[in-house]
Amino acid sequence: MAVASRIVAEILEEVKAHIRPGVETRELDEIAAAACRRRRVEAAFKGYRGYPASLCISVNEEVVHGIPGPRRIKAGDIVSLDFGVRYNGFYGDAALTVPVDGVSPQAQLLLKATEESLYAAIDRMRVGGRLSDLSHAIQTTVERYGFSVIRQFVGHGIGRSLHEDPQIPNFGPPGKGPVLKAGMTFAIEPMTSAGSWQVKILPDGWTAVTQDGSLAAHFEHTVALTDKGPLILSRI
Ligand code: MF3
Ligand code: CO
Repeated sequence: MAVASRIVAEILEEVKAHIRPGVETRELDEIAAAACRRRRVEAAFKGYRGYPASLCISVNEEVVHGIPGPRRIKAGDIVSLDFGVRYNGFYGDAALTVPVDGVSPQAQLLLKATEESLYAAIDRMRVGGRLSDLSHAIQTTVERYGFSVIRQFVGHGIGRSLHEDPQIPNFGPPGKGPVLKAGMTFAIEPMTSAGSWQVKILPDGWTAVTQDGSLAAHFEHTVALTDKGPLILSRI
């Protein structure tokens, strides 16, 4: 899982380096697909429940599961990249939201709050702690900034499958759910909105957008809990 997750991080870095005004989202998807072929790893999302691409690319009011296509990135956009691979039977999964040339102060703050909430949750991963401590840390961090947490999607256990138990909601009271044990591996993924948390799915059957059209952000890491605390696997 450490190798799979490091490869995810490296490929996300490579894709991120190609984000600039004018690039089509399908070009970014091809960069990820080519990187998978070079490394002989499988893109985890391609074909998952019929998902048609290697990357999920969600721009501005798109929350998650945006399908790459002819859409061109422009200055001021925020671009969420979500990516996973399977390597030697194990999965890694990560996401980040990238600001493109001169985004608004509100967008900058949304990215900061969302990334900070991910690290707040990771910080709560302790042997003997409870799963919903992570959920609570995410919600309180995001709401402190005046933003909201998307409720329709969750983080998840990860390992020999992309999605394993338990589900990890990004909101809720602390002290509930399974007791955390060394060896557990989670994909923690706060998804947030600058406005309301309600989402709708576009007619393509995948793309989730905020109902009120407000900006959305997404950060995700694959993290292992060890006796010495959390280990972020999807970091270079
Ligand atoms: N990181 C997302 C998740 O864990 C990506 C899945 S998208 C799909 O759910 F295309 F694979 F469905
Ligand atoms: Co995930």
